[in-house]
Amino acid sequence: MCGIIAYTGTRSCTDLLYQGLRKLEYRGYDSAGLSVLSGGRIEVIRAVGNMDSLEKELEGNGHSDARLGLGHTRWATHGRPSTENAHPHSDCTGNVSIVLNGIIENYVNLRSELAANGHEFTSETDAEVVAHLIENHYNGDLLEAVRLTYADIEGHFAFCAIHSGHPELIAGARKECPLLIGVGKDEAFIASAIPAFLSETRDVIVIGDEELFVATPAGVTIMDLEKNELEREVTQVNWDVDAAEKAGFETFMRKEIYEQPDSLTDTIAGRLPDGGGVVLDEMAISDEVLAGIDKIYIVACGTSYHAGMVGRYVLENWSGVAVELDVASEFRYRDPVLSPSTLVVGISQSGETADTLAAMRQARKLGSKVLAITNIMGSQATRDADGVIYTRAGLEIGVAATKSHVAQIAAIHLLALYLAQARGAMSAGEIDGIASELKAVPELLQTYLRHEATTHEIAKRYYQQPFFLYLGRGVGLPVCLEGALKLKEISYIPTEAYAAGEMKHGPIALLDEGSPVVVVATDGHVYDKVISNIEEVRARSAAVIAVATEGNEGIKAYSDDVMFVPATSELLSPLLSVVPLQLLAYHIAQLKGCNVDQPRNLAKTVTVE
Ligand code: AGP
Repeated sequence: MCGIIAYTGTRSCTDLLYQGLRKLEYRGYDSAGLSVLSGGRIEVIRAVGNMDSLEKELEGNGHSDARLGLGHTRWATHGRPSTENAHPHSDCTGNVSIVLNGIIENYVNLRSELAANGHEFTSETDAEVVAHLIENHYNGDLLEAVRLTYADIEGHFAFCAIHSGHPELIAGARKECPLLIGVGKDEAFIASAIPAFLSETRDVIVIGDEELFVATPAGVTIMDLEKNELEREVTQVNWDVDAAEKAGFETFMRKEIYEQPDSLTDTIAGRLPDGGGVVLDEMAISDEVLAGIDKIYIVACGTSYHAGMVGRYVLENWSGVAVELDVASEFRYRDPVLSPSTLVVGISQSGETADTLAAMRQARKLGSKVLAITNIMGSQATRDADGVIYTRAGLEIGVAATKSHVAQIAAIHLLALYLAQARGAMSAGEIDGIASELKAVPELLQTYLRHEATTHEIAKRYYQQPFFLYLGRGVGLPVCLEGALKLKEISYIPTEAYAAGEMKHGPIALLDEGSPVVVVATDGHVYDKVISNIEEVRARSAAVIAVATEGNEGIKAYSDDVMFVPATSELLSPLLSVVPLQLLAYHIAQLKGCNVDQPRNLAKTVTVE
């Protein structure tokens, strides 16, 4: 977690660093800070809270002469959010300043050794040891001190360091956590993610895993751990700068909910050609191998896990391969039974989630083929996989995943069709029939979004309720799990999501008069069963809020409120039925006055286990 940025160049950099941190705030926002070289000294400005707090701290404190500096936005792992624990961290002399993303696993030992040698620590963080180690190793060569420090530390991290004796130099390293360089004219930016410098340059160099770098206004050098220079291509990113702004919406989350039709269109584009069949350019796992697999194992976390759960129903039905599913944090510490004929699918919007990456690596070690479904080009997940399916949802800023989720589901639909094609599990005609239906979904979703007001009205009736139960069957179950996660993470209202048939085995005891129960009751082979479960809920005088298929007027007799979604086939329906649940959560959170883009305690990218 955490976002880091560094700058070296010819421009005054305090504001550049600050603006970059604003774009990285989604990675953590419990404290933030900057360090700049000004008047020959390193000046550190830090604040607890989000970037607004740092902005206040910077007022009248801009150090306009600074041309070298670091910035950090924090999501606490070691040490509570406080000014002392905020980055950048310094050594004992104040000559060294560092920012770090990740975790130093052996920091306790390092800290006591350094303390025994007279180093004084000012924070409770693991990261501070890096500044003191650099101080220890520094002998006039910052890169060498960084290299030796890298050798001392264990864990997963990316860090940047500056020294007051080197007014143009940034040195740093990365191991597993992301770090990219934005190259400009006589300047360089180093950051955890591209949006941090996208308004300044589109020329990007990726620092590889277990590599060192140095940057000055004259250029950038990437090295292996022995300081051998490595060739690195500069790639041009074509992202839209405005994508990082709210484009007229009051929050990123609502903007991103409205971007879902585009997110779907882009994810499908070119992959279901008019001539028939499924094309996945980055699959890189041969049809022969895919034809031989006997099990699919899906690993993911949070919302991505829920997309994976939709995948279980779709993949089994269309490709005929048995599917298992686990949250990555459990999978990695079990003894999963995998073989070379297992296909492991890691789903991760960010492509940086520590648990998902660890699960994917473990699967590879056990000889399985690994496929990544991710939204971020060049992310670590793409490097830990044999093949990739990119979702093309674009930049997602809201901590609550929305447009990336529907894109993940669509990517799974594509994978299932691709497998069905490779394995001969469906005829060309059947595949093309589903492809046409899938291509029609973005337009249906666009139509649905015009009816947002209905969901807003329903939210007004229920937002003061202390608890919500979600019930669904079949593909309606992962939709419920996702709807319940959305509500709890942005409104802080406790929720439960259950397989509707399981309700009578326990959760029914939670129901009282008027308790809101959200039921996904879209058309499908389990619809009648869901209606029976609704009857059980109503017999306890609870209030039913149903998600149903347009045209099903009969559902009104069983529900207090209905959110209708357009009709599509059952296995495609989660692409539509999850959207009213996103909007319901959104409006409830807004009515409660919550910050939906930055829910408490959360961060967008979870790079710690
Ligand atoms: C959901 O709204 C959250 N953002 C969270 O559950 C997220 O899906 C999870 O942390 C996994 O992230 P990833 O897709 O980037 O791996």
